[in-house]
Amino acid sequence: MDLKKIAELITNALEEYQPIKIIFSQPKKGNEFKRRVLTIKNQGFFFWQEEAFFGNQVFHKNFKKKEEVEAWFEQHKEQYVQALIRIEETDYQLLLGQKRTKIRVQTAPKEAKIESHNRKKNYIFAEGIPHDFLVELKVMNKAGKVYAAKYDKFRQINRYLEIVADVLQYLPKKSLKIIDFGSGKAYLTFALYKYLTEQGYEPDVLGLDLKEDVVSFCQKTAEKLNYHNLKFALGDIADWQSQGKIDLVISLHACDTATDAALAKAIEWDARVILAAPCCQHELMDKIKSEEQKAFLRHGILKERLAALITDALRGELLEVFGYKTDIMEFISLEHTPKNLLIKAVQQGKTTKPKTSFKNLESLLATYGLENWAMYRILEKDIKKIMGLPD
Ligand SMILES: C[S@@+](CC[C@H](N)C(=O)[O-])C[C@H]1O[C@@H](n2cnc3c(N)ncnc32)[C@H](O)[C@@H]1O
Repeated sequence: MDLKKIAELITNALEEYQPIKIIFSQPKKGNEFKRRVLTIKNQGFFFWQEEAFFGNQVFHKNFKKKEEVEAWFEQHKEQYVQALIRIEETDYQLLLGQKRTKIRVQTAPKEAKIESHNRKKNYIFAEGIPHDFLVELKVMNKAGKVYAAKYDKFRQINRYLEIVADVLQYLPKKSLKIIDFGSGKAYLTFALYKYLTEQGYEPDVLGLDLKEDVVSFCQKTAEKLNYHNLKFALGDIADWQSQGKIDLVISLHACDTATDAALAKAIEWDARVILAAPCCQHELMDKIKSEEQKAFLRHGILKERLAALITDALRGELLEVFGYKTDIMEFISLEHTPKNLLIKAVQQGKTTKPKTSFKNLESLLATYGLENWAMYRILEKDIKKIMGLPD
């Protein structure tokens, strides 16, 4: 192994966002600084940070492009006697001589391995196996290694599939019709299709989105992967008409009232199962009022969160009115924002008690001076019919 090989290893690690640490020590004459560069992950974003130590002072500089780190390494390798390069679980100790560089390769100390070690959870789509859609969507490389920058996505996909696995008992194995509203780049849609197929189901999945470019990208990707019964279409949830029954309605992070439109559609079609992760609910933000709870409402951020919680609680009760047993649980959000709830609803038929749920719903509306909200308005006629209320 020589310095050229080390430079290649660094480039690969940077390209794949593998955790990396480069430490230069023993500055040569005329150089007073010790330096190191570390991978930093902040709210899902990756960058590299240099720390330069001078006496008891420390200076920071951020690099956003891998080329900047490569140039930094090239520049400083001449100015130090020693360097340590840690890539994931391996340490490369460099003795940088005038003519020759001595390189010792060894396993990094135990503490340095903790991160990678903890990652090895029992995932449905495990790391280390190249799953075709994950490779195609650039979540993992061809050897099955998950890119560090996509690790949150990888975890989210697996968490989502655990939730799907829980509701499989309510779904038919043959001709299983699914619609995924607001499918976006469709990581979860591809994962769902692949998972169901592997479990022996015959899924027929449609991803719907407003964005032409993502729909076209996803359609091409599905064709490339030979996922024959996974299709994508351009359209607005509120206007979408289904042909025939739909067994499972999914709506993950569709914005604001798009979730209400999705839930209302699912109810209209009497879908057996609904999975919805709401996102950026603004509708009630300007409408909620409460003399008793001014302490919440005078802070924008608290008001926003409270409005989102009220919206989800109302959705939950309304789903129960329509015969769905509803659970609201934690989901992994990509951005680690409060957008991490998932509504899971399973149709129970006639066994529920719509009156209790409707009472809960009315009482919550009254508490916050509200009359209705998007989902309620769409379903108003049906609600009145179920509850025996006048038109
Ligand atoms: C944040 S992305 C989520 C993508 C994917 N479901 C996920 O969770 O990874 C939200 C997607 O919903 C789509 N969307 C929002 N409102 C919609 C509507 N009314 N009809 C169809 N798609 C909608 C957006 O275009 C966007 O692609």
